[in-house]
Amino acid sequence: MLLEAPSVRIPGRAAVDRAKIELERRLGPSKVLTSTDACAPYASDDSDVGGRPPDVVVIAASAGDVAATLAIADACEVPVTPRAGGTGRTGGAVPVAGGIVLATHALARIKEIDRANLVAVVEPGVITAVLHEAVEREGLFYAPDPSSLDTCCIGGNVAENAGGPRAFKYGVTRDWVLGLEACLVGGRVVRTGKRTVKGVTGYDVTALLVGSEGTLGVFTEVTLRLVPKPPTVATALALFSDVRAAAGAVEDIVAAGIVPRCLEMLDASTLDAVRSAGVSIDPRAGAMLLVEVDGEGAEAVLERLGGVAAERPGCIDVVVAQDATQRDRLWAARRMLSRATRKLARHKLSEDIVVPRTRIVELLDRADDIGAATGVRHLAYGHAGDGNLHVNFLWNDDAERPAVDRAIEMLMRATVELGGTLSGEHGIGVSKAKYLRLEQSDDLIALQRDIKRAFDPKDLLNPGKIFPAEGSDGRHRSC
Ligand code: MLT
Ligand code: ZN
Repeated sequence: MLLEAPSVRIPGRAAVDRAKIELERRLGPSKVLTSTDACAPYASDDSDVGGRPPDVVVIAASAGDVAATLAIADACEVPVTPRAGGTGRTGGAVPVAGGIVLATHALARIKEIDRANLVAVVEPGVITAVLHEAVEREGLFYAPDPSSLDTCCIGGNVAENAGGPRAFKYGVTRDWVLGLEACLVGGRVVRTGKRTVKGVTGYDVTALLVGSEGTLGVFTEVTLRLVPKPPTVATALALFSDVRAAAGAVEDIVAAGIVPRCLEMLDASTLDAVRSAGVSIDPRAGAMLLVEVDGEGAEAVLERLGGVAAERPGCIDVVVAQDATQRDRLWAARRMLSRATRKLARHKLSEDIVVPRTRIVELLDRADDIGAATGVRHLAYGHAGDGNLHVNFLWNDDAERPAVDRAIEMLMRATVELGGTLSGEHGIGVSKAKYLRLEQSDDLIALQRDIKRAFDPKDLLNPGKIFPAEGSDGRHRSC
């Protein structure tokens, strides 16, 4: 569902036809899809954002194809929506003005794994899990691990600054990107950043491009930082009577100076969804923490962590995974949460708000209040160590949608009031653009629009994303 019509210019038929002819001439017809059926799979991503189907899809096979497409788009004044794996949650890869979808999934080479300098150079279409396996075969480690890692691509991870459970210890994608090759509207190619650990030359354009949601440039090469693969990993489940006890244990663990690499929390409704998917969990448990520690002495640290969790009133049990198979099973269950919770109702929207860790319990209270006030069913799970929770709203009847929208807006307001931020890892995209002013000042939004104009004066690259519709006052009625 399109939450708010973005203020985008729809290209005229003549401009689109000119672009199609030029694309076929420059790239060859096999890389240019024009039929309605062939273009249809490129009209959506893993969000509920409905856009305007693309008029043409380019399957880029080289950086040159990307540059040529962006030159033609500029010359014909046709908008371009870049796309990698298409697994985004906020409509980042959904074309809202039609035009060209520029798909980079076929640029999928791992060009280099440099063990001595702890660097990997990859193309944007490399699947994240494929990169993990490749570097781990070399005894190295790339930490960012979004739950969609089997299908998402590095290009999309960089565009959205993806996170994942391991962000608690290792940070998000931005913390791993050293440099980029990016193609700008018009076809200019810039190389940003470095391949050294240190480097402070000029503005940090790499950091600006990471998380820019496909609005500033299209990546054709990504240089990533690696670290040695941690020698040991230890994983455990801590079961609690209720989610507030689990959230209290999160605070206790961090206060004890323990830094697990993952500190994930699941509430009672999420646990029920996991049980319905066939995973057996102690029936007494009304919440769970999934914790993982890595590095030298991981087992001892996990034992200490288990002791801290067990002392928290409401802790029912701490169960340590005995081997890699058990650990993999736990993570498979965690990664399928999004799919498992989707089965609970006809419709689901998953938010990815963040609050300071010490305010998680208040956030849970506010979510319950919002559920009671709007009558919308909700559940919560996520990266509690980071304060990054996926509050999911579930509904069956389309008539409930206005109440869901009210609930989401109330949640966004509550998040900002608690000192948090609207998105920890999924980006703003289309879904959250209308809430941006709740968190950011008009001056900050204007500054970002100026940056966008410097890269893309005609607003051709991924229009309709991040910023609220121009001209709208962006103010929201209070709930
Ligand atoms: C996750 O943590 O599983 C993903 O960010 C997706 C989500 O559940 O919304
Ligand atoms: Zn997540």
